[in-house]
Amino acid sequence: MLTQIGFLEGDVVEVLLTTVSGDDEPNGAPMGVWVQKGPSLTICPYEDTQTARNLENNGHAVMNLSQDPHLFLHLAFKKELLHLEPVLFESAKTVKAPRIKGVSGFVEVLAQSKEEVESDAKFKEFDCQVLHVELTTNYSPVFSRARSAAIECIIHATKIRALYRTNPTEIKRLVYQIDELQNFVERVAPHSPSAAVIQQVEQLLPKWIK
Ligand SMILES: Cc1cc2nc3c(=O)[nH]c(=O)nc-3n(C[C@H](O)[C@H](O)[C@H](O)COP(=O)(O)O)c2cc1C
Repeated sequence: MLTQIGFLEGDVVEVLLTTVSGDDEPNGAPMGVWVQKGPSLTICPYEDTQTARNLENNGHAVMNLSQDPHLFLHLAFKKELLHLEPVLFESAKTVKAPRIKGVSGFVEVLAQSKEEVESDAKFKEFDCQVLHVELTTNYSPVFSRARSAAIECIIHATKIRALYRTNPTEIKRLVYQIDELQNFVERVAPHSPSAAVIQQVEQLLPKWIK
């Protein structure tokens, strides 16, 4: 089933990972999922993320499947974009972590921390045992270059935020790449939701590139 829905061996797929804290506070964040032989799934949240803390506390998680750049933007920058409508959660079938309402599908997992990868690694690694897979009626198989460009911009922007005041050269490179992706989307799909998301990303950046 995982292979059929696009979790291909050797690939990385981007999901909206929902977890729950020790105080039962739900959390969602975009995360990459490394698909290895099996297929077995690994997630690598940076140690200073809420996701890593929640997974250390309890391994319950849902990989919410979506190609909606608004959701990626919202969950990647939830502290900065407080004015946006909150993302709505609902109960999952097999784990304590919540699902996100309205997405294309769910992979419910139990994540288990791997032994320390390298002592100086800044991220945690978790192997995921899949408990339940489900597609919803919102499932959309179409590919949009503008949508993937918008999601790429959001990843670059999260890196810029993480590198703030530490690596101006890398920040400059990432800003350049966002500008290139924005030019591309303005050319192919200027009135799309993806173009609007990239404009929101551009508005966030001055905080970290002073
Ligand atoms: C598509 C996408 C993939 C991402 N993948 C990861 C990842 O694999 N690991 C990570 O630590 N952060 C990743 N990020 C950045 C986090 O989503 C971001 O830092 C988020 O604010 C973490 O939220 P949290 O503190 O609630 O866990 C990704 C962002 C995007 C847009």
